[in-house]
Amino acid sequence: MTPVQIKPDVYWVGAIDWNVRDFHGYSTPAGSTYNAYLVVDKKIVLFDTVKKPFAKDLISRITEVVAPERIDYIVVNHVELDHSGALPEIVDVVKPDKIFCSTNGKKALLAHFHCEDWPLEVVQTGSSVNLGSRTVRFIETRMLHWPDSMFSYIEEDGLLISQDAFGQHWATGERFDDEVDQSELMYQSAKYYANILLPYSQLVQKLIAQVREMGLAIDMIAPDHGLIWRSDPGKIIDAWQRWSQQETRAKALVVYDTMWQSTELMAEAIADGLQQTGVSFRVMNLSVVHRSDVVTELLDSRALLLGSSTINNQMLPRVADLLCYLKGLRPAQRIAAAFGSYGWGGEAVKQINAAFEEMKFRIAHEGLRVQYVPTHEDLKQCAELGRKVGSLVLQEAPTL
Ligand code: FEO
Repeated sequence: MTPVQIKPDVYWVGAIDWNVRDFHGYSTPAGSTYNAYLVVDKKIVLFDTVKKPFAKDLISRITEVVAPERIDYIVVNHVELDHSGALPEIVDVVKPDKIFCSTNGKKALLAHFHCEDWPLEVVQTGSSVNLGSRTVRFIETRMLHWPDSMFSYIEEDGLLISQDAFGQHWATGERFDDEVDQSELMYQSAKYYANILLPYSQLVQKLIAQVREMGLAIDMIAPDHGLIWRSDPGKIIDAWQRWSQQETRAKALVVYDTMWQSTELMAEAIADGLQQTGVSFRVMNLSVVHRSDVVTELLDSRALLLGSSTINNQMLPRVADLLCYLKGLRPAQRIAAAFGSYGWGGEAVKQINAAFEEMKFRIAHEGLRVQYVPTHEDLKQCAELGRKVGSLVLQEAPTL
């Protein structure tokens, strides 16, 4: 298999996973890549590996550059198994002199692989290792997004190997940002941020400030997923800065699930009210839209209107699923309102409101409930709710 030279004597040797469709709850309809990088200097270093089933691809690509046994060091920037699953097989083949990792990386490697006999060498922010004509500097990025995570920076190449940071789940034949459609690239990057990094947004801001303070000259960012940023690495750093500030725009989401289309009728009437105010809006039916796509749309939305019918005194399961997912991702400061139809009881709206309160959303309305099928008057109230939320969205200055 063919490696790709990304800088003189620096190669992408990772794997393309065209078929992965679910990444622990995040839908990946365009697959993903597991990027690993090989630097050939006086010392030869492999940065990260790949998911276990792709170990042969990695070895095959390395072999096109050097015999794997010639690798001196392995750097583990991140222990999650999509990057370390192939590590035992690689360590067996390479027999590295050293495996560099963070303090938490060592703990995680031992807990995953029970590898007391591996030559693990702990590094910290400020640690460096000389390869000959290059020096690798390490920067710990704790909780971005695992405790073990770190960056490797090679000053002589202006190359930041950033593990998950600045990545996308997007399988492509292209390896560089300037070779693909820019709007798709930014959409996939936003989806990645929204579904993986959102809960750690404050840490992202601190990290970006730290990296800027360090004055690193970054010519290229090589993440562990997706495209390598060579044409404008500042573009993705700026986007992460924006997303981490949870900047929203005048946009509202109407998300719902429905049993007999009454809640759907309510959703459509609410959307009509939103439209009358001129805000941007999306309508997403959870029976056809994946939770991770909802979160992607929520990234820049200022309001969420969430609807559910009531079944057996509960909200519908897909709505509960979304709320469970959202609570973990911790979007901040959204305007929110619940709605839904019911036959008797009608608990769903109350349950959605309780979840909104837990997430500290600003509830714009006590919730709109309709028994069985909405009347013309009920739908007018739904439109009124849409107008109310739309005008709140327009009044709000960009958040944070
Ligand atoms: Fe791509 Fe956190 O692993």
